[in-house]
Amino acid sequence: MKIGERDFRSIWTEGDDVRVIDQTKLPHALEIVSLPGLDEAARAIADMWVRGAPLIGATAAYGMALALRRDASDASLANAYETLHATRPTAINLRWALDRVRHAVGKLPRQARAEAAWRLAAEICDEDVATNRQIGENGLALIETIARAKKPGEPVNVLTHCNAGWLATVDWGTATAPIYLAHDRGIAVHVYVDETRPRNQGAGLTAFELGNHGVPHTLVVDNAGGHLMQHGLVDLCIVGTDRTTAEGDVCNKIGTYLKALAAADNGVPFYAALPASTVDWTVRDGVAEIPIEQRGGEEVSHVLGMNDHGVVERVRISPETTPVANYAFDVTPARLVTGLITERGVCDASAIGLAGLFPELARRR
Ligand code: MRU
Repeated sequence: MKIGERDFRSIWTEGDDVRVIDQTKLPHALEIVSLPGLDEAARAIADMWVRGAPLIGATAAYGMALALRRDASDASLANAYETLHATRPTAINLRWALDRVRHAVGKLPRQARAEAAWRLAAEICDEDVATNRQIGENGLALIETIARAKKPGEPVNVLTHCNAGWLATVDWGTATAPIYLAHDRGIAVHVYVDETRPRNQGAGLTAFELGNHGVPHTLVVDNAGGHLMQHGLVDLCIVGTDRTTAEGDVCNKIGTYLKALAAADNGVPFYAALPASTVDWTVRDGVAEIPIEQRGGEEVSHVLGMNDHGVVERVRISPETTPVANYAFDVTPARLVTGLITERGVCDASAIGLAGLFPELARRR
């Protein structure tokens, strides 16, 4: 996708260098950082220079390759796996990518490991782009159906939460892929962007992306969704997910569950868009079993923004002594999810729905 006139993926290589955008600086500054080794790749994920489930997985795959370049021993492979796995707990694409690389290179002779891991990381990135594009095609059909019932020129209003856009994947995004395709094909679409406290990925990243692509959008506070839905202003919710269970429970950024409740109360269809790599086939009950990341309290007690003089600063919004809890994700039970938009089609959020599209993966659990 474009930033200004330049085409970007969220992660790419230049020669032997892995490059990413430091997303903590967006939308105020576009800073590209190089990841020379395992430690930097792990730091990029843990400190959220890169974030979003598929991009976390892609960065971890390159992290394994970088580690093996310096030392291709079994001990180094195990250490890289553990180091990267410990960076963030909720997005399952992290484990998926690490398992894939470990499985592919672990059986190779040492001298072949680094090159094979590098190639596989590139393959994981290319696959992600193709997968998201297909998610876009499959989700587009839902937008087209709603558009057909509208008056000419009247937009389809989509509400989204957090950033499940191209910055959260390698390209296209998951929740945004149908939106980008609809816009590109001349369907009038407008997006309500939840700001997504505490880190404001909606305000800082989704609004940035949509603006760069020319997609009409409106930023709203996190609590506005229910009101918008009560007044018929939302046709469809599409969110991403960090981990979806084999039974269709959807774990995503904190606040997603409340949007799904409001959608159910107002008869608004609520979809999660995801690649198969985001399904955790080993988990059935998302509320009980998915580990929910808890982050530092300063993300809640402070907000970060640019002042009128162009200086980025962090300001406190609560008394210094107020205790803070910072749960980063929540789980929306499958019963509140209208459907899952995947690369193989749209299915019910259920074990039967997922197994229908991915029989070979469902069978393995
Ligand atoms: O904490 P983040 O920014 O990594 O959370 C990201 C999300 O919750 C996304 O919606 C999810 O990873 C899906 S990304 C396609």
